[in-house]
Amino acid sequence: LKITLLGGGGHAKVIIGMIRALGHEPARILDDNQSNWEKELMGVPISGPIESVTCTKEPVVIAIGNNRVRKKLSELYETEYVTLIHPAAFVDPSSKIEAGSVIFAGAVIQPEAVLGKHVIVNTCASVDHECELSDYTQIAPGAHLGGNVQVFEGAMVGIGASVHQGSIIGAWSTVGGGAFVKGIIEEGITVVGVPAKTRSSI
Ligand SMILES: CC(C)(COP(=O)(O)OP(=O)(O)OC[C@H]1O[C@@H](n2cnc3c(N)ncnc32)[C@H](O)[C@@H]1OP(=O)(O)O)[C@@H](O)C(=O)NCCC(=O)NCCS
Repeated sequence: LKITLLGGGGHAKVIIGMIRALGHEPARILDDNQSNWEKELMGVPISGPIESVTCTKEPVVIAIGNNRVRKKLSELYETEYVTLIHPAAFVDPSSKIEAGSVIFAGAVIQPEAVLGKHVIVNTCASVDHECELSDYTQIAPGAHLGGNVQVFEGAMVGIGASVHQGSIIGAWSTVGGGAFVKGIIEEGITVVGVPAKTRSSI
């Protein structure tokens, strides 16, 4: 499979590695930073602006870590988005993962987890049984979700954070790196620490 990537930053490098590990070909990168055009990223040509995705017939992956940007691009450009699961990830066959999501090396997705569109489960993160991750969410490297955790649209669980089983992370909220979350995190806030508290209150 030849795959077009949107975005040519560090996150794209990991996706290029994953595409190659899967035996596919990262065909080209589209990036809006004009100074990168005609250059290469890990041997993949950067060939022009993201809007030229409308001319591509290849399947596409949005290789951008920012959750709001993935939402914006996926709504602007309705095309065939691939789901990529690294061969060194474990994904239970009873879980469901929608188009455009990426599961990196070392990640574990347990039974009956449900992942929406354009979700990122980063290096060595784990998502336990029956978790629900809405569209555009992101579980950063080494973060762990217990069973039945619900992560609403666009929320980010930071690097190395842990989330107690049954907890709820509100839409577009951020859990800071290393936090421990238990209970309900409201929409659109940032929490940090052990136990996690809203940042303004620390
Ligand atoms: C929580 C977070 C979003 C805050 O970012 P920010 O708004 O830029 O905040 P700042 O770095 O300015 O820090 C503000 C304060 O919060 C503290 N703080 C920041 N992150 C913290 C964390 N994870 N845990 C505890 N305290 C934290 C800072 O020490 C600082 O405290 P001070 O005001 O007493 O000096 C960020 O630090 C974080 O943890 N991001 C996760 C990143 C991640 O997982 N990336 C993965 C990429 S693949």
